[in-house]
This record gives sequence, C-alpha cells and structure tokens, in this order.
Amino acid sequence: MNKLLDGIIENNRIWTKQGKVATYIPELSKADPQAMGIYISALNGEEHFAGDYSTKFTIQSMSKVLTLMLAIMDNGKEKVFSTIGMEPTADAFNSIINLETKNKQRPLNPMINSGAIATTSLIKGNSSEEVFNRILEFTRKATGNPDININEAVYESEKHTADRNRALAYFMKGTGVIENDVENVLDVYFKQCSMEVTCKDIARIGAMLANDGVVCWNQERIIPREVARIVKTIMTTCGMYDASGHFAVHIGIPAKSGVGGGILAAVPKRAGIGVFGPALDEKGNSIAGIKMLEELSNELDLSIF
Ligand code: DON
Repeated sequence: MNKLLDGIIENNRIWTKQGKVATYIPELSKADPQAMGIYISALNGEEHFAGDYSTKFTIQSMSKVLTLMLAIMDNGKEKVFSTIGMEPTADAFNSIINLETKNKQRPLNPMINSGAIATTSLIKGNSSEEVFNRILEFTRKATGNPDININEAVYESEKHTADRNRALAYFMKGTGVIENDVENVLDVYFKQCSMEVTCKDIARIGAMLANDGVVCWNQERIIPREVARIVKTIMTTCGMYDASGHFAVHIGIPAKSGVGGGILAAVPKRAGIGVFGPALDEKGNSIAGIKMLEELSNELDLSIF
C-alpha cells in the first residue's frame, strides 16, 4: 500500500506545475508549490502515508465541515438549514452575487464563504473567544491531536486582507442572516481557517465521518450518526465548490478542500483520506490533490456511486 501511495505521488507530481499557490491571503503565498502528501486512516486501524504527509498547513475551508457539525449539534438541523441553504452553486467559493439574486434570506450552502460565516455565527458561546475555543477543542478531539493550534501569521494575514469576507458578512447582517456582532463572527472565522493541520489530522477527521461519527482510535462517538450523514452529503454536493460535479463523476468521494492545499475525504465505512498540495487550480482546489484522489479512487474502487 505504501508503494501504491509513493507511486501516486510521483505519477501526479507534474500537476503541481500547472497550479498556483493562493496569494490573496499573502501569508499563504510562502507555501512550497511542489509539496505533496497523502495519508489514509482506514477504519480497520491501518494507516498508510507518503510524501509530505507530516508538513503543516492551514485547514482553511476544510474547517467549514467542523463548524457545520457544531452548528447542527448546537441548534438542530431545522434552525441551521432555515438560516443557510443546502443547494450547490455554480459560482466561486467567495461569490457575492447569489446573496442578492438567489435568496436574500439564506446563503446557498454552508461550504461557500457566505454560508460558512453564517454557520459560524450560529455556534454557541458567551464570547467569540469561547466560540473559537469550542471549535479548537472539537478539532483536537476529531483528529486526536491535542497540539493543534492556529498559525498566527496566517490569521493576521487573512484578518488584514479579508475585505471580501467582510462584504459578505455585513451584507448578511443587513439581511438578518447574521444576528451577532459581525467583527466577532469574522474573527472566529479567520481563526478557524488558520488552524494548522497535517494530512494525518484531516485523514482522521475523514475517518470519523466515514465511521458515522465515531473516532476510530478510542471508539468515542463525537457526533450523532445523522450529523455525519448530513455533513457527508453536503460535502458530496458542495464540498469542492463549482467543481463538485466533476469531482463526483471522476472521484466520487465526499470531500472538502481548503486554499491551504488540503483536501479532506471520507470514504463511507472504509477510510478517511487527507491529501495536500498547495498549488491550486482556478477554482481554488489543490490541483495535484484532486489528481491523487482520482488515481487512488480508481485503483481502490472508492467511488460511492
Ligand atoms: O475565507 C477564505 O477565503 C479562506 N480563509 C478560506 C477559503 C478556502 O479555503 C476556499 N477553498 N478552497
């Protein structure tokens, strides 16, 4: 298996040249565009890995999966999905247009930036510090890694360049989607995106989802089965943004990407997979990460369809 993974890295290295690291958050532009890693955490306890699987990168939009779980557990699915929709978009992850033209009351889904910021605003806590600490503790539990923390430089970098996210959030405050203080909500959102993880950490989150909400290493249930089912469904339809259809046809695994270069994938009943490659395609998804998952899915027959 490790041989297969080494081969997958080498076969797809060429793709890193066709992508570009994110620069709109200046600190992310320091990433090595040629880095590539893969980690599989199987439900039978086997773990396999190759390449830069222990390199740290920021979780970015993969955190939206964790905040969706917390928001549903805090509020129930009815409240969450009456505030945020569950329909895919054919637009970019940071698109503004649908907030006005499609549905003024609800961002379209929890995986795009507007929907994710609204999701974070639903997480309970007496202060923004408490809300973020709950997200951090939940992430540590889902990964089994008590050392996860934020990358301060990325957090500061995003906070100072996030005009577009501010526009989305203030618009949603104006339409009543967000009820809390906008700057507090955004601060939590920037921090959740800046949590540093490795391929192993995201593979473990995927494994917990693949295992219907139970972490594999101590059999603790950390989310209800129904929440795991909902989150995997939304990852399938919306997790790769306006490339979700292509991803479903060619790879067929519930997955979520982040502009730090990670992709978190959950193969139901089988395994969690974490891949990393900071060179992104034009949709903001890891270009080599998608290609590695495609080869792996074909080799091991992982498509759920
Ligand atoms: O809000 C942002 O733009 C980033 N913190 C996260 C975006 C992201 O990861 C999109 N994913 N591919």
